[in-house]
Amino acid sequence: MDLKQEILKILEENRGESISGTKLAKELYVTRSAVWKAIKSLQKEGYQITAVTNKGYCLAPYNDIVSAESISPYLKGRAKTFLLDVHHTITSTNTVAKERAGQGAPEGTVVVAREQTEGRGRMGRSFYSPNGSGIYFSIILRPKLSIEDSLKITTAAAVAVARAIDTLAGVEAKIKWVNDIFVHDKKVCGILTEASLNFENGGLEYAVVGIGINISTQDFPKEIEAIAGSIFSQKPGDTPISSVLVAEVLNNIAEAMDSLTDCKYLEEYRRRSFLLGKNILVIKGGQTIPAKAITIDDNARLVVEYDDHTREALSSGEVSIRPQ
Ligand code: BTN
Repeated sequence: MDLKQEILKILEENRGESISGTKLAKELYVTRSAVWKAIKSLQKEGYQITAVTNKGYCLAPYNDIVSAESISPYLKGRAKTFLLDVHHTITSTNTVAKERAGQGAPEGTVVVAREQTEGRGRMGRSFYSPNGSGIYFSIILRPKLSIEDSLKITTAAAVAVARAIDTLAGVEAKIKWVNDIFVHDKKVCGILTEASLNFENGGLEYAVVGIGINISTQDFPKEIEAIAGSIFSQKPGDTPISSVLVAEVLNNIAEAMDSLTDCKYLEEYRRRSFLLGKNILVIKGGQTIPAKAITIDDNARLVVEYDDHTREALSSGEVSIRPQ
């Protein structure tokens, strides 16, 4: 860690409180002038740090620049051991996390970005990932799961995100199978899970769970503006919301890691689903087929009933609610 990061770590751990330059210098075994230089450099990067004579340096409570230092204070339990790799701008956190996983990065490695230039969604689509109003991150998991059970990773991740949004925004986040999170009928988060198979034992080598959350994005591109939304209309002014949100999701994922095959996540997933019981359209093999969403089965598949009363359990694909 260089001096700037060490100072940032202390300021992040004491957000909203002033710490004197003398104290920082003493704690880090450097001169007060070295502290001052590092603070100036952090301010230049956009950190809202005030310097008050006789009081010291203070990082504003609402400063929302995401860094490993800003996320760490909010991590709990097993999530505290996660390895955070935070970037300002990156192509795609999933692409980078997959590369790292292929090189042997351990479970719990998390790639975070404030902006993505090539954010990816499901079905080869792109994911709009602007700077400043959303947060994008991918976690490497190495669960001992069969390929059949791998859909449960996405299910547990969707529940983890929905819970975090409920807690921080005071709303009830809903889930649209398989992995879209909705608030007030708008999609506020997408999850892309990509897995690599171990051909020797037929299990998973690793899974990368990529999560993109619109925190306060308002100006969406034309093609998604009717469906996309954000958790807040404006960022809350009293908390570093992006960091707190990433930490809360990671805390929930850490808690779920040992019990991915538990039905408790599926039960909550079903409760939060807004598809069940509704008339839907199944988009499959270039066709759009009317159906009814019956349930989510214990393998996290969506069970649908077609108009001829035949049923199918879908493990992938795309559905939409049928207009009345
Ligand atoms: C979807 O809605 O189709 C899934 C979107 C997933 C987006 C996230 S953002 C973080 C991670 N990196 C990516 O490139 N994609 C996922």
